[in-house]
Amino acid sequence: MGGPSNYQPKSAFAKWFHERLPVMDLVKGQVLDFPTPKNLNYWWTFGGILSVMLTVQILTGIVLSMHYTASVNSAFASVEHIMRNVNYGWLLRYLHSNGGSMFFVAAYIHIFRGMYYGSYKAPREVLWMIGVLIYLVMMATAFMGYVLPWGQMSFWGAKVITNLFSAIPFFGQAITTWLWGGFTVDDPTLNRFFSLHYLLPFVLAALVGLHIWALHVPGNNNPTGVSVKGSQDTVPFHPYYTMKDAFAIAVFLVVFMAFVSFAPNYLGHPLNYVEANPLVTPPHIVPEWYYLPFYAILRAIPDKLGGVVAMFGSILVLFALPWLDTSRVRSGTYRPIFKQFFWIFVIVCIGLGYLGSKPPEGAYVIWSRILTAYYFIHFLVILPLIGLLESPKPLPPSISDDVLAKAKSVAPAE
Ligand code: HEM
Repeated sequence: MGGPSNYQPKSAFAKWFHERLPVMDLVKGQVLDFPTPKNLNYWWTFGGILSVMLTVQILTGIVLSMHYTASVNSAFASVEHIMRNVNYGWLLRYLHSNGGSMFFVAAYIHIFRGMYYGSYKAPREVLWMIGVLIYLVMMATAFMGYVLPWGQMSFWGAKVITNLFSAIPFFGQAITTWLWGGFTVDDPTLNRFFSLHYLLPFVLAALVGLHIWALHVPGNNNPTGVSVKGSQDTVPFHPYYTMKDAFAIAVFLVVFMAFVSFAPNYLGHPLNYVEANPLVTPPHIVPEWYYLPFYAILRAIPDKLGGVVAMFGSILVLFALPWLDTSRVRSGTYRPIFKQFFWIFVIVCIGLGYLGSKPPEGAYVIWSRILTAYYFIHFLVILPLIGLLESPKPLPPSISDDVLAKAKSVAPAE
């Protein structure tokens, strides 16, 4: 997709520059003129939204770091200093903390979009797998970021999650001590988390570069899942999708700013406004909302090692998704049975999220076990089977045919 562009430098300077670094050639060929399916809906704007959110996180994070101190004695106070004394420090901090949540909202929509429309299928397997890797790095980055304000949830969250490594047979305790840099979560732990929390977003940016490269080789999938057959099926990325993406980004930023302005602590936990105290364990240790489904899976298994394996397994299984789904049809629109199981799966994930927020007792545990079992059955049994058993609806001959048929069906009668 894409190709050598027809960029013509307009000024003498542009010509001089172009002969030395033909970067505008790349921009024109791979961005402005990039042939993009003409039928992409708004679910396709979330890649752009994610790119904006990554930028917001990096920019606000850099300025926050100028005022933050990574030491167990002053981290909590330095965050309060940012909130009270630094000019617009409260805004920077709320943008960054709510920005993290909004980043995950966009990522989950982006992932479920890919699942519904079969964007993980050939020839986009590598693009999908880089996406899963991005998701893992996002989780690690957000986890370490949450430790930095050194509140009660920061400390106890870090303790629970790092302790999971002690379930590894033989070397578990040694690995945990090595991760901590001492014999508990302490100054060395906070320091390395800060260092890695600053580093990983740049690793993310590099992975996003690879993600987009891997997208530009086969080109976008689209709501029909039917491959592009020729130039009649595409439009140039600019101005069509630059405008559509810009509009979606603006709407998303309004929602983001509504949280920042009117409910900046809604998604946070009140106990993180209490300084970390290693001697007082909170009654319920809960992670941020975006980890809750995985937290439910972790606690569903009665054995510690089993829980850790199930939790990591629930993410790692996504790498195998392109091969677990055996259907040759990409888009869920033409797969009547798959479509129903897709929505059941979405409800199961939301259910697991709810259960992750509850204490691990009584009916909550039973339901966590049922939904955890279903989560794995969805990937390992349901998807391979329905791909073989279901009869898909007839596909449109091409993207253009589908667009024209839809346009006719909505045209007013003459
Ligand atoms: C920082 C996070 C991410 C960024 C900035 C990002 C960016 C993008 C962009 C700009 C696109 C093209 C526009 C679109 O389809 O929305 C895209 C497509 C895609 N992304 Fe991501 N992405 C991220 C995370 C992920 C994750 C976590 C996954 C999956 C686990 C994923 C899977 C995909 C797939 C399969 C496509 C192709 C979609 C299609 O053409 O149908 N991405 N991404």
